[in-house]
Amino acid sequence: MPPAPYTSRKLYWRVFREASPYGWHLFGILLIGLLATPFTLLTPLPLAIVADSVLGEQPLPAWLQALLPAAIVGSREAILGVAAGMVVALAGLGKLRGLLGALLTTYTAAQLVLNFRARLFRHAQRLSLAYHDTRGSYDTVYRVQHDAPAIQWIAIDGVIPFITSAVTLISMLSVTLHIHRGLALVALGVAPLLYGLSRLYSRRLRSGWRGAKKLESAAFAVVQEVLNAVRVVKAFGQEDREQERFVRQASQSLAAKLRLAWSEGLLNLLLALTTATGTAAVLFLGARLVQRGELSLGELLLILGYLAQLYKPLESMSQKVASLQSSLASAERAFALLDEAPEVVELLHARPLHRARGAVSFEHVSFSYDGARPVLREISFHIPAGARVGIAGSTGAGKTTLISLLMRFYDPSSGRILLDGVNIRRYKLRDLRNQFAIVLQEPVLFSASIAENIAYARPNAPHEAIVAAARAANAHDFIRALPEGYATAVGERGMRLSGGERQRISLARAFLKDAPILILDEPTSAVDVTTEATIMEALERLMVGRTTFMIAHRLSTLERCTIRLELANGQLVQAGEARGKAHDHAAA
Ligand code: CTP
Ligand code: MG
Repeated sequence: MPPAPYTSRKLYWRVFREASPYGWHLFGILLIGLLATPFTLLTPLPLAIVADSVLGEQPLPAWLQALLPAAIVGSREAILGVAAGMVVALAGLGKLRGLLGALLTTYTAAQLVLNFRARLFRHAQRLSLAYHDTRGSYDTVYRVQHDAPAIQWIAIDGVIPFITSAVTLISMLSVTLHIHRGLALVALGVAPLLYGLSRLYSRRLRSGWRGAKKLESAAFAVVQEVLNAVRVVKAFGQEDREQERFVRQASQSLAAKLRLAWSEGLLNLLLALTTATGTAAVLFLGARLVQRGELSLGELLLILGYLAQLYKPLESMSQKVASLQSSLASAERAFALLDEAPEVVELLHARPLHRARGAVSFEHVSFSYDGARPVLREISFHIPAGARVGIAGSTGAGKTTLISLLMRFYDPSSGRILLDGVNIRRYKLRDLRNQFAIVLQEPVLFSASIAENIAYARPNAPHEAIVAAARAANAHDFIRALPEGYATAVGERGMRLSGGERQRISLARAFLKDAPILILDEPTSAVDVTTEATIMEALERLMVGRTTFMIAHRLSTLERCTIRLELANGQLVQAGEARGKAHDHAAA
């Protein structure tokens, strides 16, 4: 995979575009966040009042005198009481603000991530088989599951605190400047250093995280691959080796994460040291100023109190820049998935297609999976509607590929494919695929009931239609014999059924779909002779009135066909009428 070409600015921008439907929520979170500033500004005030106006001899600040009734301003006890009351009120209101903020944040974050995940999943489903074949499914799972939440970390937990910190910083700064300009500037002297440090580290952290996520995704890909093929692993007794493969991958990812934790820790240490130096300088100079009578003790305490608050946003802004790098690396991966263009695309004004007649033509069709090694070369033939086509050829000759092109799982590199005289690229994809019912070499079932599996193409089909389809597929009897009949759960990928049973359920599915074109990719390769006979009998019924493409190795199967296509090395070596039953369909 080429390194993602996103700059930080582009990433932030895309995150915000993605989050824009929740603009008002984010704005609310920001406002509640900003409310923190007045609270932070007011927090050290009671102490300063007590130091200067209760214990010391100075009058109350003018704005407070204006706010409070004269009776209170005149009495030290009353001022002390007000100061104490302020401590409690500030704490209570501050927490209430925090609570509201947390609620809104949680809600917005969950919605944001859900929507983003839904978009990623939709896109992943739209991507071509070529993408999934080469990239592997787990990497996509990882992007949807672990990378997608990054959008929340960036939009809510990263950027909004960054903005509120900046506002806090500015207000703290103006107050400090007001009290003593020189000390404020001394305190601010460390800012460029903080900025430089966080910039330096963020670049390093981002590329580190990019690598760590790739490693982690690869480690879990091992788990998924092994669990999917657990039979084979057990049969060959390779559990230990797979274990070792997983641990090796996972350890690499662990090491990468440790290095990152070390870098981040080091950065935090350097940031803390930098601000501590600033505080020390202010303490040193401030004490001298108090000694010389240029500053009151209360003012120094106030400045030192603000200084802690001033450095907090500065430090957290720098830390944020660094800790966001993990999320930015994730966002990069999620956006990369979204940017992956589906290779098979629908034309802008694609034609609808209700029910095709079923005439199929290939015209000089060539195809290659990797762009280098041709798998099909210059294939041309014409199949009239309703014909039965047997496709023969040694293994790897390109039979499955030919069928995949017809269903537009891939587009040919050159040449064109016509359905009812129209290039299949001109049809709406969904309509086109609706014209095919397929029964595969390896039937694919979903972890649902038998009835739901049969009704996969028509989820609203009435129960009678499902039973009729099962009868037609010679599956009704074995289904009825199961303890829970049609409600029996078949387990993940249908693993609780035998190969022949799965095959007949996928046949029933094809019956129920009632599509004009039938595609059978060696539907009887995995079953015994008796089952084959029952399946073939059902197939005979299914093929009536449909154009059928049947891939088969056995002569007996091929003899049921009216047209024979024979592939060798990706080329058509024979296209003609089947020898068995001559038919008046012509093959070009
Ligand atoms: N191939 C590939 N990439 C894929 C699928 C197939 O490069 N994603 C290659 C295979 O290596 C093979 C050729 O394409 O050399 C044809 O594959 P296929 O059409 O699947 O062959 P079939 O004729 O269907 O073989 P079989 O009888 O074994 O099913
Ligand atoms: Mg095949």
